[in-house]
Formats: sequence, C-alpha cells, structure tokens
Amino acid sequence: MAAQVIDGKAIARQVREEIRREVEDFRARYGIVPGLATVLVGEDPASVSYVTAKNRACRELGMASYHHPLPAETSQEELLALIDRLNRDRQVHGILVQLPLPRHIDENRVLFDIDPNKDVDGFHPVNVGRLMIGAAVFPPCTPAGIQELLIRSGTPIRGAEVVVVGRSNIVGKPIAVMLVQKMDGADATVTICHTRTRNLEEHARRAEILIVAAGRPNAVTGSMIRPGATVIDVGVNRVGTTESGKAKLVGDVEFATACAVAGKITPVPGGVGPMTITMLMRNTLRAAKLSVGATC
Ligand code: GUN
Repeated sequence: MAAQVIDGKAIARQVREEIRREVEDFRARYGIVPGLATVLVGEDPASVSYVTAKNRACRELGMASYHHPLPAETSQEELLALIDRLNRDRQVHGILVQLPLPRHIDENRVLFDIDPNKDVDGFHPVNVGRLMIGAAVFPPCTPAGIQELLIRSGTPIRGAEVVVVGRSNIVGKPIAVMLVQKMDGADATVTICHTRTRNLEEHARRAEILIVAAGRPNAVTGSMIRPGATVIDVGVNRVGTTESGKAKLVGDVEFATACAVAGKITPVPGGVGPMTITMLMRNTLRAAKLSVGATC
C-alpha cells in the first residue's frame, strides 16, 4: 500500500491561520505590529525566492516586513553596520540574514552580532545553547517545522527510534537535539548519520522516523526504509526547469520507491518547505511578544 502523503501546505495553512489571529490579538492589545527585517546579500536565485516568500508570508499574517537587498560586493563592515541599526530599531522584532553569504563575509561573525532576542532563525550561540538545554526561545525554523509536522500528522515521537541523515547546523544537529529533549513532542531515541557513517542503510532501516537532510537527490531509497516508517524529506534540490520555466525541485528521498514502503512521507515541494516559513512567522511573533514582556 502506498504511504500517506503528509500535506505540509495544508498543515502550514492551518498554523498560519492560528498565527494570524494571534498577531491580530497582539496588535489590538499592545498597538504593536510584529516586524521582520530580512537581509539578502547578492542575487542568488534560490535565496531571492526564499526571501520573497518570507516577506509575502509576513504581509499575509498582518506583520510588517522590512527588506534590505544588498549588492554581492557589500563589505562585512557595511553588513555589520546594518545589523547594528536593525538591533536598535524598535519597529524590528526579528532579523533574518539569508544564508549563504558571499565568501568574503564571515558568516559566524555576522550571526553572532544579531541581538539574541531578535534572532528569529535561532542561529546565535545563545539560542543554540538555550535549545541544547531544552529552554529554546527561537527554535530554528526548519527543525521546528519538522517537529510540528510530526506532531500534527499524529506520528508517535515519545520513545521512537529516530534516524537523522545529515549533520548541518541548520537542520541535522538541531532537529536531533530537539527530538531527544525530555518533553512533549520529543523524548525520542536519536541517531545522527553523516557522510562518514558506516552502513547508512542498516541505521536508516531501524528508523521509525527517518529525517533526511543530506543535500543530494536519492540519498535515501525505498530499500533503506523500515516498512511503515514516517519519512521526512528535507532536501531541496534544483534539477533543471519545468515546462513553465520554474525551477524543478526534488528532495533527498527517491519518492516512488520510498512511497511503496513508508507509512507516511512528506513530498517535495509541499512538505517541510511551507512549514519552515511558518515557523519563522511564529518566531517573529514570539520576538514581538518578548519585546513587551508578554508571555509566549
Ligand atoms: N538558508 C537556508 N536555510 C536558511 C534558514 O533557515 N535561514 C536563513 N537565514 N538562511 C537559510
């Protein structure tokens, strides 16, 4: 029997409606519109499309967005000066610097300069530390989206065998940390696999929840999946263009063979992607609430 496809778009729509109502309540109570500043250095097409979607989501949910497109030649000093201004701007509750940055800019230096209370990506070491000890204020958006998808699709997490393929700072490491916490929506047994893992197939086949963030198409195929497992495909790989000229996307999982074995699976596009932006909106609202001392 084919796997149930987890509809990330539909779940994201539902969560966004909840956030939109909360934004409205917050505005009515405090007279404040939550605001997100986005910073994009250069014109990488994928980054342009992500940032555009983030700004559109802000407008749809009644939040303000302040976009700062900068030329690829922007110096690190110029970028740090902008971050400093945004840190002090009271209309800006969240700051997002789209990654990757051009090679002449030290990414960590920039991320470390963002006020941790405006760090809606959750990339500042203070927020990484909070996440590690189970006291996250801004859980990073893609892992938070994955956790929300698991919860809202009714996938049991407590005590489950979770295998994460990929050890990036943006997805692999934080999702592993989040799912191992002693709390609701977590409490799993987590294994992280990566490029140096011996016998990936053996690990993957043990997983009741398999999270794939490897960064390459077909990194996981049906034969690597435990029958009935929930498979979360985090990959976004651009493989040519569709007939209408848009970028054609595939995930990291070979969908056809995986579908025949898995119990549930997220599609690409329309799985994790819409949830990532939704969690960014949730973090931005949280930042606005923090700025007035309101509880989350
Ligand atoms: N580039 C790819 N994913 C992300 C993300 O979650 N946040 C930012 N700022 N840049 C990214």
